[in-house]
Amino acid sequence: TSPAAVIVAIDGPSGTGKSSTSRAVAAQLGLSYLDTGAQYRAMTWWMLSNGIDVRDAAEVATAAAKPVIVSGTDPTAPTITVDGEDAAGPIRTQEVTSGVSAVSAVPEVRTRITELQRTIAAQAQGGIVVEGRDIGTTVLPDADLKIFLTASPEARAARRSGELKGSDLAATKEALIRRDAADSGRKTSPLAKADDACEVDTTELTLQQVIECVVTLVEEKRAAK
Ligand code: DC
Repeated sequence: TSPAAVIVAIDGPSGTGKSSTSRAVAAQLGLSYLDTGAQYRAMTWWMLSNGIDVRDAAEVATAAAKPVIVSGTDPTAPTITVDGEDAAGPIRTQEVTSGVSAVSAVPEVRTRITELQRTIAAQAQGGIVVEGRDIGTTVLPDADLKIFLTASPEARAARRSGELKGSDLAATKEALIRRDAADSGRKTSPLAKADDACEVDTTELTLQQVIECVVTLVEEKRAAK
């Protein structure tokens, strides 16, 4: 018999190894994978491309229903399109990164993207790993397993500037702390650890160790189902 379908929620701030861990765990265990940050980035990219002022919450709220965002859930080759156009590259620009916290704080944006996420999770045969900020608390409160990844601000900034070529460590740390504060402080489903989430501090761990830890937790859940 095939293993039971499990729904895994992985939340935490940026620079904790959330995406790398989530993808690797999904690939190893044959689960689907959804990067919810990419969906908020895709919404932000569409707004910027269509002349919406991302600081104007009313304008963002009205436009939120318009873009068609489609996520591919293969962990070995995740994809994202907006109105049929490949968005994987453009959603990683500095402009999108700077605008995404404002866009993702707008309730109409969150309602729309949360619905998308629940549909994708419900359709995933065999189970899914969903990574984000509010998955365990709001999007999938009944997930089989909830993980909350943390790391010191220094470790997170060092990892991020390693990813962004030629970036300045102090500036990266400052931008990252600012974005986390915005994501944690917003009114509608902020970045938060669910009461029943298992917290993993990755500061002193290698990526491989974090992956192994999460794989073990998922396997235990599957065995118990
Ligand atoms: O994981 P990331 O850096 O790609 O996420 C980009 C932004 O999207 C992040 O600053 C906050 C927002 N986000 C969110 O509000 N809720 C989620 N579930 C995932 C991301």
